[in-house]
Amino acid sequence: MVSDSEVNPASTEDKNSLRKRVLEQRDDMPPETRNTFGQEIIRNVISLETYGESKVVLAYVGFGSELRTDEFLRRTLNIGKRLLLPRVNRKTKSLDLYKVKDLARDLTSGTWGIKEPDPSRCGQADIRDVDFVLVPGVAFDSRCGRLGYGAGFYDGLLANRRISQTRLVAGAFEVQMVERVPMLAHDVYLDLVLTEKRHYPA
Ligand SMILES: Nc1ncnc2c1ncn2[C@@H]1O[C@H](COP(=O)(O)OP(=O)(O)OP(=O)(O)O)[C@@H](O)[C@H]1O
Ligand SMILES: [Mg+2]
Repeated sequence: MVSDSEVNPASTEDKNSLRKRVLEQRDDMPPETRNTFGQEIIRNVISLETYGESKVVLAYVGFGSELRTDEFLRRTLNIGKRLLLPRVNRKTKSLDLYKVKDLARDLTSGTWGIKEPDPSRCGQADIRDVDFVLVPGVAFDSRCGRLGYGAGFYDGLLANRRISQTRLVAGAFEVQMVERVPMLAHDVYLDLVLTEKRHYPA
């Protein structure tokens, strides 16, 4: 009998080894390529109709070899949308959302050195008010399956969204696309993944 792993190696590849492999590939991209592709990806996200129509946007501040989101954050504020950014709550082991108005002043260096909203300057917000999420992640597949960094923070947060209203979109480099992300019951599928080459699903 042909096992699942022979037909489709990524379907049974352990999440941790998949994470490691894709992160290595992303880290290996030359910085100029990452920049050029990153600008293209952000342009693609910004030109989405669902982004244009959205009023409350949840995004993140890219770190390490992740897609740089600075331009997306600036643009979102400049065109008058409400911008929310997440902050790790160590007690509840989940993400709290805060309204950010001034990127230069409202952020502090938080967990893992990632820039997070300063709770003394920003009001809290609710995932149920969000209509567009730029979701971070490590690996994605053509069915919009998603593998994160392994904390389950986004799966937990997005489980509480208003499904009819919230569009979930990831911007990622083509090297982050894999044959199949192993998806468990708690893993949330996205609506769209945009890379520098194309969008998924086609
Ligand atoms: N909604 C949820 N309910 C219960 N457990 C959850 C939920 N979301 C995640 N978890 C738990 O969190 C852990 C990590 O999940 P997983 O490997 O899917 O993280 P991830 O998708 O890589 O991370 P993230 O969502 O932060 O990007 C798992 O042990 C999983 O059982
Ligand atoms: Mg997950």
